[in-house]
Amino acid sequence: MNKKSIFVSTAIPYVNAAPHLGHAIEFVQADVVARYQRAMGNDVFFLSGTDDNALKNVLKAEEAGQDVASFVEKNAAAFQKLLADLDVSNDDFIRTSSDQRHAPGAQKLWQAFRKEDIERKSYKGLYCVGCEEFKTEKELTDGRCPEHPDAELEEIEEENWFFKLGSYTDRLQNIITSGGLRIVPDVRKNEVLAFIRRGLEDLSISRSAERARGWGVPVPGDPTQIQYVWVDALSNYITALDYAHAGAQFKKYWEGSDERIHVIGKGISRFHAIYWPAFLLSAGVQLPTTLFVHGYVTVGGQKMSKSLGNIVDPSPVIKEYGVDAFRYFVARHIHPFEDSDFTMERFKQAYNADLANGLGNLVARVMQLSQSNLERSVDVTFVPYPSEFTKALDSFKPNEALEYVAARVQALDQKINQTEPFKVVKTDPERGKKLIEELVRELAAIDLMLEPFIPKTSKAIIDAIVANTKPANLFPRKE
Ligand code: MSP
Repeated sequence: MNKKSIFVSTAIPYVNAAPHLGHAIEFVQADVVARYQRAMGNDVFFLSGTDDNALKNVLKAEEAGQDVASFVEKNAAAFQKLLADLDVSNDDFIRTSSDQRHAPGAQKLWQAFRKEDIERKSYKGLYCVGCEEFKTEKELTDGRCPEHPDAELEEIEEENWFFKLGSYTDRLQNIITSGGLRIVPDVRKNEVLAFIRRGLEDLSISRSAERARGWGVPVPGDPTQIQYVWVDALSNYITALDYAHAGAQFKKYWEGSDERIHVIGKGISRFHAIYWPAFLLSAGVQLPTTLFVHGYVTVGGQKMSKSLGNIVDPSPVIKEYGVDAFRYFVARHIHPFEDSDFTMERFKQAYNADLANGLGNLVARVMQLSQSNLERSVDVTFVPYPSEFTKALDSFKPNEALEYVAARVQALDQKINQTEPFKVVKTDPERGKKLIEELVRELAAIDLMLEPFIPKTSKAIIDAIVANTKPANLFPRKE
């Protein structure tokens, strides 16, 4: 098998507040992609980070009466902690304000834009701080941003640098329809294509240093202007690889890689499918190959919001149930593409069914039989992932991959009931032992598939198989 070089990223969240369930879900989904690719023998660089330079971070810091740098640092640390708590295997973490690699790279990208693609002109428009973008009249519902209906739009008139997106209409359309830039699922791809068809207007790519409160990456050669935060933020994907110096990582994981996968939420597909590729085309840099666009998690049927007071902090759930229980739930029950609702009731019910009564119980049964009847541990060999499993994960459907694994768990459980090895070992020890060995081997094959989803548990299971011992209760039942 040819070892591929693969880049995987999460979006870099704003650090105007602490992380919530939505961020946790994206981190887990991206981690499953990265771990799966590594398990397939590929060479993966998995990046996460924080979007420190957004105006909304500055406004929140001001509101809290704190200095911006320490405010964003504190929140960025909370995101980093969440990644660690979720056992996310990111190879790097970039903060766009404090990381020395970032500003020089973001400026280099700007300088690489074709001169005819950018121009300085005056502009008047309505700015949504929630989206961090100007809105046109036709994008508004009742004069409000549909994503942030509670927020007041700010009318702004100033000189900005603009990027002429329109010049890239045909190339973007071709790249997306040909699959050169694969957008998963199709509904997001069609949305992006429809947006392009409606006509691409010039995009403001800077703002006055004054309005940005002097926070952000200065426009090269124009100190009165700060880079528009989306230009700055999108460039993190390459600045972290040392694009500034065309470093070895940039060469290996961007220029020379086989796949460049961005995992993002549905609200920011336009930035990743249109603006980012247009910037890269202009700068003569390779484009991402794939966008995996996930849906949103809602809570009690509603979008999480401060005003509704339904923002879920994932940390207590992770603490109470364990990180793998959380990861498993996200991967299997949060739909990868559609919106999904989260309630503790649903979580607990799924935990008991899938993990306490399902996997946990199966491991205990098999390893109890093995420990008490086999003198030595069973030799387990690596079996390649079955096509049902790889097909699901290659199309970014962790839920289907886990449904497949769950079916194998259930089948193994039934096999124990049907073959009754616990009885057979008493009447025909040789045959009984053979049956148990088969069970252990099947458990090992299942375990291998679980690694990208629940790495700690997967390790505990293989360790138990190697030691021929029944492990401590992996998923105690919760009442
Ligand atoms: N800073 C930008 C991203 C820049 S990437 C170059 C941003 N930040 S965010 O904090 O609003 O969102 C970060 C990621 O979390 C996005 O992919 C977003 O879609 C995702 N989610 C935010 N809320 C979410 C849910 N309720 N559910 C699932 N994911 C959601 O956008």
